[in-house]
Amino acid sequence: MTKVQLVDNVYWVGAVDWNLRDFHGYTTPRGATYNAYLIIDEKIALVDTVKHGFAGEMIERIREIVDPSKIDYVVSNHVEMDHSGSLPDIMDIVPNAEVVATEKGVEGLKRHYGGSWFTRTVKTGDELSIGKKTLSFISTPMLHWPDNMVTYLKEDRVLLSNDAFGQHLASSSRFDGDVCALMGYECDTVMEEAAKYYANILMPFGNIILKKLEEIQKLGIKIDIIAPSHGMIWRKPDTIINAYLNWAKGVTKQKVLVIYDTMWNSTEMMAKEILEGVAGSGVDVSLLHLRKNDWSEIVREVLEAKAIIIGSPTLNNGMFPTVGGFLTYLTGLHPKDKIWVTFGSYGWAGGGVRKINEVLVSSGYEASDSLEVKFRPDTEDFEKCYALGQKIASLVKNG
Ligand code: FEO
Repeated sequence: MTKVQLVDNVYWVGAVDWNLRDFHGYTTPRGATYNAYLIIDEKIALVDTVKHGFAGEMIERIREIVDPSKIDYVVSNHVEMDHSGSLPDIMDIVPNAEVVATEKGVEGLKRHYGGSWFTRTVKTGDELSIGKKTLSFISTPMLHWPDNMVTYLKEDRVLLSNDAFGQHLASSSRFDGDVCALMGYECDTVMEEAAKYYANILMPFGNIILKKLEEIQKLGIKIDIIAPSHGMIWRKPDTIINAYLNWAKGVTKQKVLVIYDTMWNSTEMMAKEILEGVAGSGVDVSLLHLRKNDWSEIVREVLEAKAIIIGSPTLNNGMFPTVGGFLTYLTGLHPKDKIWVTFGSYGWAGGGVRKINEVLVSSGYEASDSLEVKFRPDTEDFEKCYALGQKIASLVKNG
């Protein structure tokens, strides 16, 4: 196995999950990695492990560098099992090593694995000297579990950020710039996956992210490398830090999404005419059928869209089940500062659009406009749809 070194005596010893296509409901068409890091000094520290089933790969990578039984500390930045799943395997090799985690982390590890391991509880500002290198810890609760923390290698200016700044992307390369050349990907691929990760995992925590980034700035920490626990390692950390600042603030583009489902195409006809009205006004707009598009990808597009237009036919006096399911997922992610618009068709009685509006209100949002059509849209209805598209485009341009 090829050794992957970030800086002197700091190595990537993770695993690549080329075949992962679903990460607890989040689609991963490009696979994933679980990044663990080995730090060699007078004492040896392993920061995070890998998902259960990949322990062998991690241990082999460690063995290329050092005898795994020499590990003194296993830092667990996060209990979620894609990072802690192989902790029992490593602890079987080094039963006397100390497991380092936040208070919630220690509690979570005990609940998951029971282990009678030696533990060290740390919080923001605590440090662990392992020789010439110092590991400094910063608690990051609710980014995205209560136990989370990040580990900063003080002398090397490397931030081991766990889930933050990650992307689900399997590759033979480990660093942000290299992936483009090696995989033939456009360079935007890494940022696209980072945005998808942020949208589907971290979007609810934008305000906490802003405060934490401010806190890190105040600590005066200089960061040369950000090494997350998924995907590429950032050797140009400003790119991803600035993207996080924008996403956390809810900065959007002049972009509109028409998200819908349809039974007998009336709602789809409305969707397409609304789209024409938006596009005809010179604003970028996408049409997203909920049974023909991947919801994780739709949510990635939501992240930077200014207006979300949601349409549903009426079924049993309510909305179509896919629309209900998607709204549950979307509103749970608490997207910020959007213009919301609803539309749909019905047969003998309405109810679909009303239900969407109720869900929006119960989630703290309000539709600025709603449009309903009985049976099939006629010429007048199409004119209303087109005009609605124009109105939304105007709001987006002026917003
Ligand atoms: Fe990558 Fe929250 O686990």
